[in-house]
Amino acid sequence: MKTPQAPAITNSPVAASTAAPAISVQNVTVTYENRPALRSVTFDVQRGELIGIIGPNGAGKSTLLKAVLGLTDLDGGAVRFFGESIERCRQRVAYVPQTSAVDWDFPVTVLDVVQMGRYGRLGWFGRPGREDRQQAIESLELVGMSAYTKRHIRQLSGGQQQRVFLARALCQQADILLLDEPFAGVDAATEHAIFELIRKLTDEHRTLLVVNHDLGVLEKFDSLLMLNQRVIACGPTRDIATEENLRRTYGGRLSLLDRAELALQNQESPQ
Ligand SMILES: Nc1ncnc2c1ncn2[C@@H]1O[C@H](COP(=O)(O)OP(=O)(O)OP(=O)(O)O)[C@@H](O)[C@H]1O
Ligand SMILES: [Mg+2]
Repeated sequence: MKTPQAPAITNSPVAASTAAPAISVQNVTVTYENRPALRSVTFDVQRGELIGIIGPNGAGKSTLLKAVLGLTDLDGGAVRFFGESIERCRQRVAYVPQTSAVDWDFPVTVLDVVQMGRYGRLGWFGRPGREDRQQAIESLELVGMSAYTKRHIRQLSGGQQQRVFLARALCQQADILLLDEPFAGVDAATEHAIFELIRKLTDEHRTLLVVNHDLGVLEKFDSLLMLNQRVIACGPTRDIATEENLRRTYGGRLSLLDRAELALQNQESPQ
């Protein structure tokens, strides 16, 4: 995977001077068939911030991303982007779903999928043009997948699919990116490269909300949202990444491995 170059992620209409947070989630409640998935979730994400969402399986992490995007009905609460509704900001928000949630039963190539990131810019009858194609190819280069443009998306490994989705989000040149477990199934080198890419995006004042399962990389995030239906803790990583908060989030189900990782992190940490 290449170190990202600026051209693929420029020209985005980053609003110049509003004090509103990039994302504001207020008292969001979601219920599936009478079972609560999210209970009164409230948090803000500032522009240019990289926030990691962690919590056990079924904690509502994916539901939270869908709720933020307006892809699932809210039973209460509200979400604003830069102080505006999602309807007014849709093109400024990119989403990479959890790979396992996507079932590709129609024939699309890798390049088709990445070009989908441009559709919001094309208007009702627009067809992707040369510039869109070029942008898609550059985005694929950034994630190290340019050799696969013609391959059917189904014929990729899970980690490769994940990288293609990331390319689609980059191609959209969005100001806000919501990534659901982008490191699931990718190898260590790719994980490292994706983090570099993410850091470059935040340097450009893009805002990222990243669902993450790996407790070994918590320190890479500016802030954390610990979720288990409710917000257990939210704030700067250095303040809230404590074993106590993790235990409360995971309901005492931290595995031996997780504990070992934490202990190691604490030893390595200078403070
Ligand atoms: N469409 C749905 N209909 C009914 N229940 C659902 C639906 N989607 C999710 N749920 C339930 O809502 C809860 C939260 O699911 P969600 O997918 O948000 O969890 P998660 O934190 O992303 O988990 P994971 O770590 O496994 O990805 C779970 O109990 C799940 O079974
Ligand atoms: Mg999930």
